[in-house]
Amino acid sequence: MGAILGLGVTHVPLLAGRDENMTRIVRRVLADPDLPERYRTAEGWPEAMRQEWGSDEGLEAARRHRKALVTWFARARRVLDDFAPDFVVVWGDDQYENFKEDIIPPFCVLAYDAIEHRPWEKAPWPNAWDEPKETTFVFKGNRPAAKALVSGLLGEGFDVSYAYRPLHHPLGHAFMNTLLFLDYERQGFPYPVIPFQVNCYGRRVISQYGGQAALAHMSMEERLDPPSPAPWRCFDLGRATARLLAASPWRVALIASSSWSHAFLTPKHHLLYPDVASDRAMYETLRAGDYQAWRQTPLAQMEDCGQQEMLNWMCLAGAMAELGRRPNESDFIQSYIFNSNKVFAVFNP
Ligand SMILES: [Fe+2]
Repeated sequence: MGAILGLGVTHVPLLAGRDENMTRIVRRVLADPDLPERYRTAEGWPEAMRQEWGSDEGLEAARRHRKALVTWFARARRVLDDFAPDFVVVWGDDQYENFKEDIIPPFCVLAYDAIEHRPWEKAPWPNAWDEPKETTFVFKGNRPAAKALVSGLLGEGFDVSYAYRPLHHPLGHAFMNTLLFLDYERQGFPYPVIPFQVNCYGRRVISQYGGQAALAHMSMEERLDPPSPAPWRCFDLGRATARLLAASPWRVALIASSSWSHAFLTPKHHLLYPDVASDRAMYETLRAGDYQAWRQTPLAQMEDCGQQEMLNWMCLAGAMAELGRRPNESDFIQSYIFNSNKVFAVFNP
């Protein structure tokens, strides 16, 4: 019989950069000509946002934010090492990186034999580790296990796609950053990786290139793409994944990777700050193990709250519901100025 560890983490790109660049997303919004004037300075912001910005435009807050995130990644890594998985499955989004106009799969298991990637080759910002542009990371895959997972899911009626090699990109940042952050101290990441792509960006995956857009661009409804898979479907897919892997011979870490509400996906806040209240409500529901509330969350609500990427967590929630688990440890790391709130959760085997 298999054993399963559940982990929820983030792949926030701002952590891969330096503290002095951590406000780059909010700064772009502040410079957007369509931002209502009253939001252009801190006087017009929510009190908690103003406090976080402080008197140094968020520099001290960036240090605190990094410390909190790095501490949690170290903790997650210890849990992972103690568990010693045969492989890890990472639910992550593809933000117009590997999947583009030629195909957007709702779900795709990347059944690679190995992964090789130079994440800094074209990076416009210096990285947090001062690693040179040509730095190459190599990870093992596990094609037999990935094929078994895909076969099992197809057998249960989930029409998942699979790929044996990348299409446009060696490894999207949702997966890559997760591995870089789980190895923040650069000791190496020895566990084979099965990236499991979820089309979280849905209506904005091609129309917005899965990323930040100007305010003027956000309102162009006619440009939007078809939606992502429904939250309940992600949840049920996670359930089936846990069921299949629990009956397998393997020790598996199931990892959901994403920040929660994103400022740049929250038009009701003029893309300036995320939906903290909605994230906190989802967090309390998760802590209580009220998974039906999660499963019933409408996609329209998640889109309204800028929570598109939480579809990765929806898969994990389904998996943990299947196993009857509640988080053993968790944390909510709030931020108004660093684009998103981040949540960590550990579900012990
Ligand atoms: Fe993402």
